Amino acid sequence: MTKKIIGVIFGGKSPEHEVSIESAKTVCAELVNAGFTVLPLYAPRTGGWRLVSRKALTAGQKLSGPRVEPSFEAGCLVKQGGGRLRPDAIFPVIHGATGEDGVLQGALELLGVPYAGCGVAASAVGMDKVISKELAAIEGVPVLPHVVIRAYQRPVMGPLLKKAARMGFPLFVKPVAQGSSVGISKVKKAADLRKAVEYAFRFDTAVIIEKGVDRAREIVCGVLGSAARASASVTGEVVPQGGHEFFDYEAKYLDDNGMKFLLPAPLAPATAAAIRIFSVKVFQALGCCGLARIDFLLAPGNEKKFWFCEINTLPGFTSHSLYPRLWAKTGLKPAAVLKRLIKIALKERAARKRLSIARK
Ligand SMILES: Nc1ncnc2c1ncn2[C@@H]1O[C@H](COP(=O)(O)OP(=O)(O)O)[C@@H](O)[C@H]1O
Ligand SMILES: [Mg+2]
Repeated sequence: MTKKIIGVIFGGKSPEHEVSIESAKTVCAELVNAGFTVLPLYAPRTGGWRLVSRKALTAGQKLSGPRVEPSFEAGCLVKQGGGRLRPDAIFPVIHGATGEDGVLQGALELLGVPYAGCGVAASAVGMDKVISKELAAIEGVPVLPHVVIRAYQRPVMGPLLKKAARMGFPLFVKPVAQGSSVGISKVKKAADLRKAVEYAFRFDTAVIIEKGVDRAREIVCGVLGSAARASASVTGEVVPQGGHEFFDYEAKYLDDNGMKFLLPAPLAPATAAAIRIFSVKVFQALGCCGLARIDFLLAPGNEKKFWFCEINTLPGFTSHSLYPRLWAKTGLKPAAVLKRLIKIALKERAARKRLSIARK
């Protein structure tokens, strides 16, 4: 049997560009381990896609190569200077904006090539901290009280700030559709609230003010599968370290000792079981497919109180990322996880193709 060809798209226009390159290194190597042929497609910050060598990627060399463009008409990738690439499936490994929010998934839909992970709507919803919470809440998943301020309300936000202040401090102020803790502030008093909201507006056109959980414990859970057969990994606990009051951008990416990862999370079995069940509920409520990491906040000293914090539909996949480590601890090695994801992508595409596009 000929090996299936998987295009791995990575890089992208987000603060997580470098993380994406690291994720792609692992994904490409593990896809090869799983028996696939890999086409590494690098998306520089300036835009477009380039076919690069796996050797250059692995060695951390400068990534350059011929431009590759999607031909929506031919349903394939056209290489600069001639030649067509017809991957059997594509694996998007771009975290954050344009890769994790449905934009890239939309382009892949137009191309008609199967792709791993969540579809357009689930990716977009997963990126939106308000809509994802609303959908989770409908399914009975606990979420924290919050107030949303949209751009049109910015000139008259006074009453909304007052409403938010009534929830009690600390409050967390965040751009609605960002990631990597960009634009997030922990606000301890009313006098600092407006400034934090203005800061978050630098990164998005909508801002969420959320009731803060002081000294929150942060529990993460990986979900893998189709919606019908989604399973949850063991839970893990992320502990910010080195003076970081919460999991800010520095703790995530710049400070080598910014976090400690406890695997499995030191939780009572009933708490871990509940979080795993809620993780699958969030995954299904948002219409996710393939993979997602679901993050929860837990009240210190009271395991009965926890809330859904956010979902990452394209979680980091570097060798030390949480998602592959959660699954390894659950008994599934990275190559096996990726194999599952490709299988689901092919099945999903086949099912979508069977949908009627006729009027009746
Ligand atoms: N309501 C909250 N209470 C306590 N800590 C929070 C709250 N919201 C966010 N945080 C802290 O901020 C971090 C980033 O927030 P999160 O919602 O996960 O956004 P991002 O998408 O940027 O990761 C969390 O990991 C946590 O440390
Ligand atoms: Mg987060």
